[in-house]
Amino acid sequence: AATVRYEAENATNVQGAVEADHTGFSGTGFVNSANAAGPYTEWTVNAPAAGTATLALRYANGTGSARVADVSVNGAVVSAGRSFGATANWDTWATSTLTATLRAGDNTIRVTATSAGGNPNLDYLEATTADAPATEYQ
Ligand code: GCU
Repeated sequence: AATVRYEAENATNVQGAVEADHTGFSGTGFVNSANAAGPYTEWTVNAPAAGTATLALRYANGTGSARVADVSVNGAVVSAGRSFGATANWDTWATSTLTATLRAGDNTIRVTATSAGGNPNLDYLEATTADAPATEYQ
C-alpha cells in the first residue's frame, strides 16, 4: 500500500484561508476555515485500485473543546459529525484516522464543518490506498 500526503493548502478550500502563524505544520501552511458551519476542504486522492483506504487527517484545535465536521467521499458522507478533539494549543497537531472505500482513480475527500466554530485548522490528509493487483485476470 502506498501512502501519499496531500497538503491542505493545495486542496480546494471554500471559506478557508491558508495561514502559517502557528508552528508545527507540514508544507507551507495550514487551512483556517471560517468560524461557521459549511466551510470545507476538499482533496482529490488518486487510488491505484478500488478498495479500503486509510485516511489520516492532521489538525490542530486550540479552542479547548471539540470541533465537528462531516467527512465525505465522492459526495457521500462516510463519517457524520466527526469530532476533532481539542489539542493543547494551536501549535499542537493531532491525527484523526478513518477508513473508507475508494474507487480506482480520483476520489474527492471533503471535510465540511458542521458546527459554528468551523473546521479545526487542517494541515494535511494522508491517504494509504490499496495497491493495484500484480496480475490482472480477464
Ligand atoms: C485562532 C487561531 C486560528 C484558528 C482560529 C479558529 O484565531 O489563531 O489559527 O483558526 O482561532 O478559531 O478557528
